[in-house]
Amino acid sequence: GCVCKIGPSILNSDLACLGNECKRMLECGADFLHLDVMDGHAVLKCTFLGHWLVKDTFVRKQKLSNSFFYMHMMVAKPEQWVKPMAAAGANQYTFHLEATDNPGALIKDIRENSMKVGLAIKPGTTVEYLAPWANQIDMALVMTVEPGFGGQTFMEDMMPKVSWLRTQFPSLDIEVDGGVGPDTISKCAEAGANMIVSGSAVMKSDDPRSVINLLRNVCVE
Ligand code: DX5
Ligand code: ZN
Repeated sequence: GCVCKIGPSILNSDLACLGNECKRMLECGADFLHLDVMDGHAVLKCTFLGHWLVKDTFVRKQKLSNSFFYMHMMVAKPEQWVKPMAAAGANQYTFHLEATDNPGALIKDIRENSMKVGLAIKPGTTVEYLAPWANQIDMALVMTVEPGFGGQTFMEDMMPKVSWLRTQFPSLDIEVDGGVGPDTISKCAEAGANMIVSGSAVMKSDDPRSVINLLRNVCVE
């Protein structure tokens, strides 16, 4: 069976129709939705995707179950949004190791709020910093671009981080995010990533279903 999950990043979707875009992706076979939250502090850009929007757009208007909302929090104070995101219906809360002094407390807080825990590292952060937390989290996110915006070039030199994590923590979910699409998926799959985020490659395609299937099939090979 397929162990690899595909999660479109909706950052590059038609933001005026966010709810419909998410629904469309799930109908096209997405396993989860990767929802980028940027506050203009941790990264230069700012998305208006906050907990109100998560709740209104996804839960109330589209009546989607909450099992698909995987938050990628690129914010200065990740501690601040745990409760609101949980209340809004988020299923997983991924924060950046670079953004907190106390990852342990944050991990505990996310769990107490009944969400899965994701821990992300930027390209400049070595994987040794993440390793001490690996047994306490559900997912490690290895960024394959500098966080900030979609459509950037995939950084192949991040793959040793993925393979190292895969070797050390065989059952850990490992996500890659940034520049992943049909041209770069095989590198990710070979290194051992099993949670695949793809933004522009999926969203800008005329046939997202085929792209999602293609990404998934490469992972199975
Ligand atoms: C970048 C975001 C990504 C981005 C991915 O800061 O975290 O999720 O939307 O988009 P692509 O796949 O186009 O690089
Ligand atoms: Zn992201």
